[in-house]
Amino acid sequence: MEKQVPKEKKGLKPFISLILSTKVPKLALIFGLIGSIITMIVGLSIPLLTRELVDGFSVEALSVTLIIVIFVVFILQAVVDGLSTYLLAVVGQRIVARLRERMWFKLIRLPVSYFDKHASGESVSRVVNDTGIVKDLITQHFPQFITGIITIIGAIIILIIMDWKMTLLMLIAVPVTFAIMMPLGSRMSKVSKGMQDETATFTGTIQQTLSEARLMKSSTAEKVEEKKGVAGIGNLYRYGLKEAKIFALIGPSIYTIMMLVIVAIIGYGGIRVAEGTMSTGSLVAFLLYLFQIIYPITSFAMFFTELQKAKGATERIIEILEIPEEPGQEGIDKDIANETVHVNNVSFAYNEEESVLKNITFDARPGEMIAFAGPSGGGKTTLFSLLERYHAPTAGEIRIGDTPINALSMVSWRSQIGYVSQESAMMAGTIRDNLTYGLSNAESVTDEQLWKVTEMAYADTFIKTFAKGLDTEVGERGVKLSGGQRQRINIARAFLRDPKILMLDEATASLDSQSEHAVQGALTRLMEGRTTFVIAHRLSTIVDADKIIFIENGEVTGSGTHQELIETHELYRKFAEQQLT
Ligand SMILES: Nc1ncnc2c1ncn2[C@@H]1O[C@H](COP(=O)(O)OP(=O)(O)OP(=O)(O)O)[C@@H](O)[C@H]1O
Ligand SMILES: [Mg+2]
Repeated sequence: MEKQVPKEKKGLKPFISLILSTKVPKLALIFGLIGSIITMIVGLSIPLLTRELVDGFSVEALSVTLIIVIFVVFILQAVVDGLSTYLLAVVGQRIVARLRERMWFKLIRLPVSYFDKHASGESVSRVVNDTGIVKDLITQHFPQFITGIITIIGAIIILIIMDWKMTLLMLIAVPVTFAIMMPLGSRMSKVSKGMQDETATFTGTIQQTLSEARLMKSSTAEKVEEKKGVAGIGNLYRYGLKEAKIFALIGPSIYTIMMLVIVAIIGYGGIRVAEGTMSTGSLVAFLLYLFQIIYPITSFAMFFTELQKAKGATERIIEILEIPEEPGQEGIDKDIANETVHVNNVSFAYNEEESVLKNITFDARPGEMIAFAGPSGGGKTTLFSLLERYHAPTAGEIRIGDTPINALSMVSWRSQIGYVSQESAMMAGTIRDNLTYGLSNAESVTDEQLWKVTEMAYADTFIKTFAKGLDTEVGERGVKLSGGQRQRINIARAFLRDPKILMLDEATASLDSQSEHAVQGALTRLMEGRTTFVIAHRLSTIVDADKIIFIENGEVTGSGTHQELIETHELYRKFAEQQLT
């Protein structure tokens, strides 16, 4: 299902088109740039003023008005500088926010198969860290780069007008700088990509471990985790060193080049002043311009390395953005009540090697209860995944009435299905949040409705024992509740949704036999008038099913009522004899 994304992308095109795709706020960008140009122009006038001061210094030239004018100009320059810096930062932050939005919207719409393959922490790192690198580039290095370019161009124009020979001498530094920067830049791109990948893997591992802290402790796996952590941290450290080496080469090289240029200028300029072909003021102005462009040139160099870093990070961002979303974002909206579910010759494989489901065929007429039984690992939950459209069958088709379920939009399909999953998944938040999770009218669900559904799921008694009642926090993945409590809240969720089709995967397996009996009664009520699919290892809960489908190794080896299976299916009879007598 996942489209193969080209591994290596050359050049900056993908990066630039990614940035442009975020709808860059143009007005802020334009004003920001104009502001920096003004700042630079004012800045560039300072050495010229200095030249006048040095060459023709006299007290009467220093009129009060001139001082006031200079003062006001400086203040204005500071204000404009601040404003434009802020505006450019706004542009950068906006771009990054859009980028994160796009990634987040993408991630939540990726198919389940993506989440099977990628650790969640890894994706977290992509959204947080990789976009962070792009953010640094755009909010810090890009404005510096732009203002740097303006300063350099402005200064060079003035310098050429002042003295083109000395300017040429100075400009020799430019090709030398580039000769050093280019190879370092492409090295940086590689290091950065490695670093980002390593960060993602590391985040993935520690997130996994921390979220299963209990398992780690019960397995006394602290030592093992220590080693795993040290390995990841070590890798990051080594990438950090590689990066530091590159930076350590860049900074001093640029600095040395600059110093050489300064020495050359002072030397040559000194001779010229001695010859009398240049004024002292001009030499001072020249040096001031030089100092003014040292910083931009250095940050110029940094910008290109940062750009390479961002290029590396962008490739991963683009990879995620290019994965096709879960199909069914669009599709028809159809009422599925009173429609037969046809499962037609459906086969499925998680990966090419082994098929998990083979040629499954059955029908579920409206209001029927279809039960699935069979040995563990047979493929029952997988079949539910196909019905819920977490995965698409590799062959065959599931239809609702005459319509293939793929034709329905995911929202239309899933909102009409109540799925109580085997692992009783929960979100962090309160019991109320969990009950109403995903409902578009979550706000308007009354306490009365909530108590009613919790009562039907036999969850009200334990919720009432909590001091905060429905507003009790359940903890990450519901860790603060018992397995049976989670299960009953999940059943209450299903009640609240009033679904057309109900799917219960071992929905009462974690309950004691008394509550199971009670919840079973409630479920029977809920099942009335709805097509229901039930998976149960405890056959007592499914003896009344309209049809029991026995799945072994992904194949249907028998189907019929309890009585029919007892008579015809040997393994089922064994199951029944062990459990029901
Ligand atoms: N996400 C997955 N990726 C790859 N293989 C999977 C995945 N989920 C399940 N399987 C494999 O598919 C097979 C069927 O698993 P499934 O969960 O459907 O069994 P089950 O009948 O529900 O078992 P149980 O009664 O224990 O819940 C198993 O062999 C399992 O290893
Ligand atoms: Mg299962």
